[in-house]
Amino acid sequence: MYKGEADWTLIAKVKENPRITMPIFGNGDIDSPQKAVEYKNKYGVDGIMIGRAAIGYPWIFNEIKHYVATGELLAPPTIEERVEVCKKHLLRSYEWKGPVVGINEMRRHYANYLKGMPNIKEYRSKLVTLKEIKEIEEVLDEIVTQYSGYDFERSAIELINYHEHCPV
Ligand SMILES: Cc1cc2nc3c(=O)[nH]c(=O)nc-3n(C[C@H](O)[C@H](O)[C@H](O)COP(=O)(O)O)c2cc1C
Repeated sequence: MYKGEADWTLIAKVKENPRITMPIFGNGDIDSPQKAVEYKNKYGVDGIMIGRAAIGYPWIFNEIKHYVATGELLAPPTIEERVEVCKKHLLRSYEWKGPVVGINEMRRHYANYLKGMPNIKEYRSKLVTLKEIKEIEEVLDEIVTQYSGYDFERSAIELINYHEHCPV
């Protein structure tokens, strides 16, 4: 699909071209609110798009929005929020792709939704092997019960090089 680091200098060149009047958005390698603001200012773009950092972590958009507005970082989402979104994702995947493909395709996402949680391996193994949506939802509910109140640390989002590890 692509590999290496995004070259934002080329995006800046397009933006600097006086003949270009339409809004120019940049993307590539943005993985935090700080980097979003830094790159927007450095390269002068009108907006930024996010790809990999949003996979299993859709909170990135609100985090950036909040950081731009206030200069402050939001607290990471709680386990309740993570599982709620993960369950919605599972349900939509199930409805859209059907009970087999929909459930199989979700398997690559659990690790991201549950990233940074201690001793989660056993639950994760269950999530990626169970075949019935009800059973998967039950495991997700159990994770909420087990980890309720867990204090997530703000950790860096890992940007996978899909050229080498293409999940699609
Ligand atoms: C799952 C996935 C699917 C993508 N599909 C396309 C695509 O169909 N066409 C395309 O031009 N770029 C595609 N991209 C590349 C993204 O648009 C983006 O340029 C790239 O991921 C770099 O941004 P990022 O560092 O924020 O991920 C895809 C990226 C991902 C992660």
